[in-house]
Amino acid sequence: MDRFIIRGGYPLQGTVEVSKSKNAALPIMAAALLAEGKTVIKDCPRLSDVTAMSDLLRVLGASVTRRGEDLVIRVVDESKIEAPYDIVRKMRAGFFVLGPVLARRKVARVSMPGGCVIGLRPVDLHLKGLRALGARIEVDSGYVVAEAPRLRGASIYLGGPFGSTVGGTANVVMAAVLAEGTTVIENAACEPEVVNLMQCLNRMGAHIKGIGSPHLEIRGVRRLVGCTCELIPDRIEAGTFMAAAAATRGDVTIRNFRMDHLHAVVDQFAQAGISVTPNGGESCRVTAVGKFKPVDVATLPYPGFPTDLQAQFMTLLAVADGVSVITEKIYPDRFMHVAELGRMGADIRKEGPHAIISGRPSLSGAPVMASDLRASAALVVAGLMADGETEIRRVYHIDRGYEHIEKKLRKLGAQIRRVSDDQPTPPT
Ligand code: EPU
Repeated sequence: MDRFIIRGGYPLQGTVEVSKSKNAALPIMAAALLAEGKTVIKDCPRLSDVTAMSDLLRVLGASVTRRGEDLVIRVVDESKIEAPYDIVRKMRAGFFVLGPVLARRKVARVSMPGGCVIGLRPVDLHLKGLRALGARIEVDSGYVVAEAPRLRGASIYLGGPFGSTVGGTANVVMAAVLAEGTTVIENAACEPEVVNLMQCLNRMGAHIKGIGSPHLEIRGVRRLVGCTCELIPDRIEAGTFMAAAAATRGDVTIRNFRMDHLHAVVDQFAQAGISVTPNGGESCRVTAVGKFKPVDVATLPYPGFPTDLQAQFMTLLAVADGVSVITEKIYPDRFMHVAELGRMGADIRKEGPHAIISGRPSLSGAPVMASDLRASAALVVAGLMADGETEIRRVYHIDRGYEHIEKKLRKLGAQIRRVSDDQPTPPT
């Protein structure tokens, strides 16, 4: 297992390029199961989640190959219908194959994803939507077994106690595109990654109207044909670099990302005293001087502040000049990073879905443990601004969703190294 050793206190300077979005790539990979012929995903990021999804598609009878930076997917055997526990338990996005396999192969057996360190993550809305389309669904020995000789269009409300669902919308849309008749989805997720998926489906021959709004109308078609898909830039990676630049009071230009996907984040950063200014084209400049101001923020479905940047923003607020409150409205238990930030000197109290953050003058380096993808990113940001040395264990979490993060940060002047557990800690 690899660790990161970070020596904090070096202002980041220079330019960094954002990779393409993990959370767009994964459902679009699943969508390739719906298409006849070849689907090409341009510039697909090299992440361990993409590798896991490739393995799952192979188990389901697809050939998945790299052609340079592109991923080429072609279905060669439609007899396979089972997504095994061993893959879906490691990566929840494996559940995205349920809709496509059911729609194309009439029956699907997909492992229930199970527990997750960021809290309860049920799939009831995915199943509700597929049932509305006429699927017969049972849970058998930890697997969802869905069957439907022919899916039929229906009117579906896809909201739950925490609002819309990204994965649920993706799964139901991917089934509805091949259903007989028209499906109407109310309260669909509006996240840019869901938009990206639906635009790719339309390129494959689907008829989806209302993309980007909570009201979708999908006229079913008989077949889809593979196409070339362009992924959107990873807005969460961009937001993480913004946090890292601000944390070190640096001056960083972030390139190849869409500022319009991060309005809420830019707004909250501005309230904290961090300047994010457009820099022409798909680029911005991030600078920060002096103490951050305290901010109260709630995570919300898009276009609200994304839960996937909550931990990174909390790290900045841990050194703000006053008390901030973060309310987590998507995953009320997504606070695994609080205890680790506490080991670095942060003063954060958790009360239900709220974190009350009393800003401290600084953080101090410490050995800490990464618990999930975004918590790991927050610890990297914390390590970059802390006094002294931080050692982050279990960085395999970060490899799920950040391409070459330590190389990108080193290019900006960060003192960060990756070492394997069997290697001694090198001097920094
Ligand atoms: N929910 C239900 N029932 C369902 C589905 C969801 O109650 O059937 C609830 C969830 O428990 C949560 C809320 O609805 O409270 C939103 O969950 P959603 O379904 O939108 O999340 P997801 O599809 O499982 C994706 C991303 C997450 C990201 C969330 C929210 C992927 C692969 N994952 O998860 O990304 O946090 O949307 O934006 O796209 C990450 O990248 O680190 C990550 C966790």
